[in-house]
Amino acid sequence: MSLQDRLRQLKSLAGPFAPFDVAGAPDDPAALFLTWLEEAIAAGIREPHAMTLSTVDAEGRPDARILILKSVDAQGWHFASTKAGPKGRQIAAQPHAALTFYWQPFGRQVRLRGPVRELSRDVCDADFRARPLAARAGALAERQSEVVPHEEDMAAALAEHRQRLDSDPSLVSQAWTVYALWPAEIEFWQASTDRQHARLRYRQAAGNDWVRERLWP
Ligand SMILES: Cc1cc2nc3c(=O)[nH]c(=O)nc-3n(C[C@H](O)[C@H](O)[C@H](O)COP(=O)(O)O)c2cc1C
Repeated sequence: MSLQDRLRQLKSLAGPFAPFDVAGAPDDPAALFLTWLEEAIAAGIREPHAMTLSTVDAEGRPDARILILKSVDAQGWHFASTKAGPKGRQIAAQPHAALTFYWQPFGRQVRLRGPVRELSRDVCDADFRARPLAARAGALAERQSEVVPHEEDMAAALAEHRQRLDSDPSLVSQAWTVYALWPAEIEFWQASTDRQHARLRYRQAAGNDWVRERLWP
């Protein structure tokens, strides 16, 4: 059987899924997001806080990768990375991004788009210090996504940064950055086995109000 035929035979959005009461959705999209996130956590979905971060480079070409959601608060949806790498440079040149969540067992997708800003040095440092030792050692090298010409050089650099952390556990990478994306729009998508998927988009209006729009599936 061809790959095309095998892919076509694979099930997608098979359900069963709970219906999404669009009319009863809260006024605040963050409240709905947190309800869906809590439900994903409670259901034991693996890595429910993993999301795709999409950015564009200086030429307007898109890029995307998976990151971990760090928090949601009045500043927006937080994620953390080094600003020394590609995504950091892309955000510096074009401080707008998109986040996409998918909780497969529930058939739920959430999409956010909006401006991104860096949070304070205190927030960045606290996040860095809360990371596991190996992750901190790697980040201290500040070389994420660079080409590795020699494996042994990478191993030696990591060992050196581990030693630095052993002697001073409070060390932080100045490039480690917590960003917050504030959604200009956020869309909740609930699959339905009859393919009449329910979609609700919140758009930021004047002030702090949200316009709610039902979208065609
Ligand atoms: C489940 C998962 C979680 C990840 N979490 C992060 C994260 O929180 N921060 C991060 O910088 N990279 C994270 N990564 C690695 C990124 O996907 C990516 O490879 C890396 O950040 C380099 O991206 P860039 O070259 O576009 O800057 C994660 C990858 C996976 C698969």
